[in-house]
Amino acid sequence: MVSRVIPVDPFDLTIFGGTGDLAHRKILPALYRRFRAGQMPEGSRIIGAARSDLNDDQYRDEVRAALKEFVAAPKLDDAALAGFLDLIRYVAIDAVGDNGWKELKELVRDDHISAFYFSVAPALFGPLAERLHSHGMADDTTRIVVEKPFGRDLASARALNRTLAEHFHETQIYRIDHYLGKETVQNLMALRFGNVLFEPLWNSQYVDHIQITVAETVGVGGRGGYYDRSGAMRDMVQNHLMQLLCLIAMEPPSQFEPGAVRDEKLKVIRSLDPVKPDDIVRGQYASNGKTASYLEDVEDPQSTTESFVALKAHISNWRWAGTPFYLRTGKRLKARQSEIAVVFKDAPHSIFGAEAGRHRNILTIRLQPNEGMTLGVTIKEPGPGGMRLIDVPLDMTFADALGAENEQVTDAYERLVMDVIRGNQTLFMRGDEVEAAWAWTDPIIERWDADGSKPFPYEPGSSGPEESAMMLHRENRRWREIRE
Ligand code: BG6
Repeated sequence: MVSRVIPVDPFDLTIFGGTGDLAHRKILPALYRRFRAGQMPEGSRIIGAARSDLNDDQYRDEVRAALKEFVAAPKLDDAALAGFLDLIRYVAIDAVGDNGWKELKELVRDDHISAFYFSVAPALFGPLAERLHSHGMADDTTRIVVEKPFGRDLASARALNRTLAEHFHETQIYRIDHYLGKETVQNLMALRFGNVLFEPLWNSQYVDHIQITVAETVGVGGRGGYYDRSGAMRDMVQNHLMQLLCLIAMEPPSQFEPGAVRDEKLKVIRSLDPVKPDDIVRGQYASNGKTASYLEDVEDPQSTTESFVALKAHISNWRWAGTPFYLRTGKRLKARQSEIAVVFKDAPHSIFGAEAGRHRNILTIRLQPNEGMTLGVTIKEPGPGGMRLIDVPLDMTFADALGAENEQVTDAYERLVMDVIRGNQTLFMRGDEVEAAWAWTDPIIERWDADGSKPFPYEPGSSGPEESAMMLHRENRRWREIRE
């Protein structure tokens, strides 16, 4: 199968924070892979910009080392590496001062597409935007890419949107949520809107409930400082889980185009009811003697920040009234597993009688790992002796279905960075979307802050606190198992 590669014009991409962890781990490897795939036109420039006093060659050494660490060996051939390093430049710059801006201006060409990636602390987003403008690097075609966190509540997100809007139009601002760049997340839209099969059933008449789980095995060690000020609600729910919820629940956009898709997502967020106190559980991982507890990881024995959240959301619109959406995410859980499960209602009447048991169709979309989907269908158990029913999976693992060349799933950043260069905002969050998401999560966080309650402790390697399971038991439902 030959993949279709849309050509782009030569560009200048400046990465502020070019010596940082995200640049090393994600952005530069993604650019390298796209270069190796022949998608990066000759004459393009990738400019690292950071505080360290380096020259081009020293930065190239750093980039080479990062690629060796974060790109799988078979993809690191000498010729591609040398070609990629040729595109690399470096400018030592002071984001809040004047140093380096003249040099950057000389490197960034007026007659090329230019994009600036803000892979820096959020406090620097405003100063960078302002300096790009005052140093004459912001014209109508310039794009800026803004990493999360985009604010820490509605007020700060609004303030940030206002600051960016002073210098850039909304069509120039690319707010990253890397979940939208994941192949399987985009597949949600292909599944829903490329098939006639599911859409007629995609509503509260046929869907009992939907579960969205993003489980991780890692703890917060190493980034405890950031995480303890955020917690799972800000770090995962407000952005990644809400984006998944939007894609699952939205009405069909009239076209796969930025305005139409983002309008529909926004309508979902605005239709969410406030979450009731009984419909949310937060947890914090304890220690099992082998791994440190959350409190040890963040070095604050009093911290009440949550490393786990489970909640029930309701979307008040015609399609979804009455169908709950259960969202769950946490660190140090049993397995790394992200999936969406659409649990359909029972058949209205069983012609097989009570002894046939209760059977349900469940459509499971596995986002990672082992990307694919499974549709559970009910069939007759083979053999004589009456009509006994069993559930069997119709299973499609994408790597099997698409062949070996697609086995390595494209990293989210590859898709997103190239979309910036192409000028396609469909998979980026619009300012109003981010604000609406904060408007929904803020009251939950404020309630926790005000009531002085604490998260429930949970065992590392478990599925989270018992209370999360109880939340569903109350309604005669159960979470899908998090499997190792
Ligand atoms: C990030 C969060 O946005 O997403 C991390 O800050 C989290 O805490 C990560 O671990 C998960 O991303 P992925 O792609 O590994 O599922």
